[in-house]
Amino acid sequence: MSDNHSNTNEPALHVEEDEKHLLLDHNYDGIHELDHNLPNWWQFTFYGAIVFSVFYFIFYQFLGGPTLREEFQKEYAKIETLQAELKKKSGGFDAELYAKIVADGGVKKGEEVFVANCVACHKEQGIGDIGPNLTDKYWINSKGTPETNYPVVFNGVPENGMPTWAGVISTEEIYQVISYVQTLHNKNLPGKEPQGEPVEEGATTDAPAAEAAEPAAPAAQ
Ligand code: HEC
Repeated sequence: MSDNHSNTNEPALHVEEDEKHLLLDHNYDGIHELDHNLPNWWQFTFYGAIVFSVFYFIFYQFLGGPTLREEFQKEYAKIETLQAELKKKSGGFDAELYAKIVADGGVKKGEEVFVANCVACHKEQGIGDIGPNLTDKYWINSKGTPETNYPVVFNGVPENGMPTWAGVISTEEIYQVISYVQTLHNKNLPGKEPQGEPVEEGATTDAPAAEAAEPAAPAAQ
């Protein structure tokens, strides 16, 4: 660049014949300026912006246009409803729906779902094989209740070999099979050895016999 330095001091000013009258007589370090009219598009944008700002100002200052805070709250409310829906779809257990499905013969249908999809790993009556024994009071991921079993079945525990059932069987079938799993709970059938933590329910006693009474077994059938 320094080679060209001497050249830049003597710029070859090239002005078209018909532009000569536009040449302004100032000179900024060799830069000359032509006095062209501003292009129409530029003026249109400029005056348009001024006109727009008048309406903008009136709308937001006097006609009750939403403030930034209000717009934020509106957007946020939308997000919250979406989140609620998502939660309902995923981990969110809907106790009302569950009760309805149980009352609708859910356990019986759930047994069919279990036989068709779950016995491969949990064996008949859930005594456990690849998957844990569902008839004892030991639980790895859940607490044995419908609401804690639901996310395990819905989302699965893929890293530990429990498949995701959402999208494979319907949500209704998930509720049904869970209601069936509840009836297995605390049957203490011989099968896979206990895994996870013992979960005591109700009057806590360590004597298994005292828990023989069906716990939260849905009163269907
Ligand atoms: C491919 C094998 C496999 C299939 C099929 C399977 N499971 Fe599982 N399941 C597992 C494994 C493995 C675990 C333990 C996951 C862990 O250790 O985190 C498990 C865990 C569970 C648990 C939680 C147990 C606990 O102790 O927390 C429930 C409930 C359950 N399965 C229900 C079902 C139901 C209902 C079905 C059928 C819709 C089913 N499983 C199908 C392998 C399977």
